[in-house]
Amino acid sequence: MAVLVTGGTGYIGSHTCVEFIQKGQELVILDNLCNSKAEVVDHIETLTGIRPRFYKADLLDIDAVKKVFDENDIDTVIHFAGLKAVGESVAKPLEYYTNNIVGTLNLLSEMRKHNCFNLIFSSSATVYGKPKTVPIKEDFELTTTNPYGTTKLYIEQILKDLCVSDNRFSVVLLRYFNPIGAHESGLLGDNPNGIPNNLMPYVTRVAKGILPHLNVFGNDYDTPDGTGVRDYIHVLDLASGHYAALKALSERGVHIYNLGTGNGYSVLDIINAFERVNDVKIPYQIAERRPGDIAECYADASKAEFELGWKAIRSLDDMCASAWNFEKNL
Ligand code: NAD
Ligand code: UD1
Repeated sequence: MAVLVTGGTGYIGSHTCVEFIQKGQELVILDNLCNSKAEVVDHIETLTGIRPRFYKADLLDIDAVKKVFDENDIDTVIHFAGLKAVGESVAKPLEYYTNNIVGTLNLLSEMRKHNCFNLIFSSSATVYGKPKTVPIKEDFELTTTNPYGTTKLYIEQILKDLCVSDNRFSVVLLRYFNPIGAHESGLLGDNPNGIPNNLMPYVTRVAKGILPHLNVFGNDYDTPDGTGVRDYIHVLDLASGHYAALKALSERGVHIYNLGTGNGYSVLDIINAFERVNDVKIPYQIAERRPGDIAECYADASKAEFELGWKAIRSLDDMCASAWNFEKNL
């Protein structure tokens, strides 16, 4: 039996593939390469000694999805594939709703036709909108502020409805906080196209001299140093969280977990840690707040620890060192 990883050549998917192969799991990857490269499959092979079967296929192409299920014995799907840029989703809502939601619907209908009922879905802390308090627990109110976030919320709802209608399904919704860092080999990491939106890839490009300085979006938030606070989690911890989540699939219905560390770090904390660990300078300027940003967002991750036996173990220093090691290797 194989696990199908949609979006398996992407940032989080590729690290998760390595984790699963190292645990002895047979994998099949489906990705249309709209935001990743085929050579990631080579890197996964280099790191594990095993080459997963790879399909360059689009979830919007239902015949291509069917082919993957016809040709493989898939009992579980880890569904990473989706578009994820918040700003772009505001400019292109139809593309985001189509890609993320129709893509998921196609996947689910092929899963059901092929008697595959286990799914782990990449959700996001973005579904908590602007939380009233922190740390954030799984039962907090859900709301979104942009089309990207709304696709995540709608897909969560679709999956909940599906489980009510068909009790053969087991679904785990993993709400990621802020994944950063890279594989220690420097072969896998976050390499967004164009100018990065997220903090860490921006910082690494400033460190490398590709971008002149970092804009710190606001220093007047109600936080210890005035800059935004987030729950940064090492992508390898996130990957192991997916393996731990398999346990929850043994019980039918929907299971929801925050994957974060429970620690909040500010933008200035990140700059200081990155400079100290890597012995490089990150020139920065204080800029206007970014529209839609919130002051503080960090997880209560105790449910995942209690029920899955999973806990993030890597430090902020590890995250900064591995992110820089990856950027230097590019
Ligand atoms: P990524 O862009 O690196 O990976 C996503 C992969 O999906 C890419 O390789 C892309 O080519 C593929 N893809 C997109 N649409 C597709 C389609 N229609 N058919 C086939 N393949 C398709 O992103 P990532 O950071 O690895 O994120 C993975 C998932 O986790 C996404 O669903 C994202 O929304 C979610 N997530 C990411 C973050 C984050 O900060 N990176 C935070 C929360 C949630
Ligand atoms: C962003 C998305 C969120 C998504 C998450 C993970 C927005 C509004 N939100 O969250 O939906 O789930 O990424 O993909 O885009 N910062 C700077 N300068 C920069 C970049 C960021 O100061 O150049 C600050 C931000 O203001 C924030 C922190 O760094 O305080 C982290 O930003 P980012 O990495 O973009 O993540 P989020 O805002 O948490």
